[in-house]
Amino acid sequence: MERLQKIIASTGYCSRRKAEDLILKGKVVVNGIIVTELGYKANYDDEIVINGKLLATKEEKEYYLLYKPEKVISSVHDDKGRKTVVDFIPSKKRIYPVGRLDYDTTGLLLLTNDGDLTNFLTHPKNQIEKIYLAKVKGLFTKDDILQIKKGIVIDGRKVIPTYFKVKKVNKESQNSLVYLGIVEGRNHIVKKMLAAINHEVLTLKRESFAFLNLEGLKKGQYRPLTIKEVKKLYSLK
Ligand code: URA
Repeated sequence: MERLQKIIASTGYCSRRKAEDLILKGKVVVNGIIVTELGYKANYDDEIVINGKLLATKEEKEYYLLYKPEKVISSVHDDKGRKTVVDFIPSKKRIYPVGRLDYDTTGLLLLTNDGDLTNFLTHPKNQIEKIYLAKVKGLFTKDDILQIKKGIVIDGRKVIPTYFKVKKVNKESQNSLVYLGIVEGRNHIVKKMLAAINHEVLTLKRESFAFLNLEGLKKGQYRPLTIKEVKKLYSLK
């Protein structure tokens, strides 16, 4: 929330002083209501009309790539007071995660205040590939690989991974490490797919999101995306 005169001035419509004048004269309407007090606070996505014309408010967009640790919630706020992914990034903007990773899942998560790009990146029809590395209980067999590659029916819909590779089968500790590429965004999709062939997921890490990966980051660290990366994400549209 920002003072109304600040929002108006930030668009370049007029100076803050002039905006105060307009407010006091009753020329500014926010979400259908005339505002005449100077302390009034509004949002950048509120509908602001001045002298009968809609003001094009545009908040500056920010884009971050976070290496999410485990025991962190993929949302903006948690009622139970647990740490959330936005706590890692000291941004003044109202950023939020692009999709979700489970509480115990680690890895690459994008955060932004760009709603258009978020909608595009999270819509399953746009086929954005995410690669996960899963440590699962049990030894992966040839038959398991075959089943996964053929596709697994989850809640009545078949999911075929875009990529699949066994990284390691560990006989000593009786577990396996597998890579799985998915374009879906359904909740717990990777865990459900592997559970369906009797391999409980022990740990899960998202290694990549489209062309982005975790290179150079440790758990809990983040970096802003470069302009080039943002443009490349947009070019996937
Ligand atoms: N699939 C899962 O099961 N969990 C995640 O966090 C992401 C994908």
